Amino acid sequence: MTDISLAVIGGTGVYKLADLQDVDTREIDTVYGKPSGPVRIGMLLGQRVAFLARHGEGHSVPPHLVNYRANLAALKQIGAARVLALNTVGGIGNDFGPRVLACPDQLIDYTWGRVSTIWEGAADGGHGGDALHIDFGDPYTTLLRHKIIAAARVTGVSLVGHGCYGATQGPRLETKAEIARMKRDGCDLVGMTGMPEAALARELGLDYACLAIVANWAAGCGTGEEITMAEVLANVQAASNGLPELVAELARG
Ligand code: HPA
Repeated sequence: MTDISLAVIGGTGVYKLADLQDVDTREIDTVYGKPSGPVRIGMLLGQRVAFLARHGEGHSVPPHLVNYRANLAALKQIGAARVLALNTVGGIGNDFGPRVLACPDQLIDYTWGRVSTIWEGAADGGHGGDALHIDFGDPYTTLLRHKIIAAARVTGVSLVGHGCYGATQGPRLETKAEIARMKRDGCDLVGMTGMPEAALARELGLDYACLAIVANWAAGCGTGEEITMAEVLANVQAASNGLPELVAELARG
């Protein structure tokens, strides 16, 4: 086991960590199967961090087929205790337009049919115990969220330090009516990968928080133009400029 201060899971458009040096690439197997790709451990501006691309480095794994359990278990296996989840999202709330970075503090789960717990009853010997019903009132680790917000401040990265993430099933984008309902529900952001990842992290005892990268206005929230993958990727790239510094600062503290 290595001493890894922070693990980063990259989402759509973030398939590697720019500036990661001296990379040690690990192919890891877990009791839940194989993660989406190799875990790359290296030095980022003087800090040791691990990186895993949630959808695989060639974006071959769609959101509903990601083995979220294996991804998190792999990061735990290499010794990471804190996970920074980068999630590419659509913006719903007025403050969450394209290229905004946000650190949500709440989520609503609209996904279905995903393997959403590590507990499998008799199959795992019923070892759930107290940890079976995790407290999920605050779905993200509060201290880690505060550190992300502080790291953004120190590195001069502009960040909205709150928000409610709505996790949809995908892989299709939402209808305008679905987004209107999510807005009424209180969602500021919409993405396809926030759950079950956040809950599984808690079950596995990992500190976990989300840094959402707004790639587009969600359906019906912007000018009404079609959402294209080219727009999504261009906005993610533009919004990710300050990420290496922010991640390194977070890893430091
Ligand atoms: N909806 C859901 N997921 C997304 C979106 C969106 O508009 N943009 C990027 N990921």
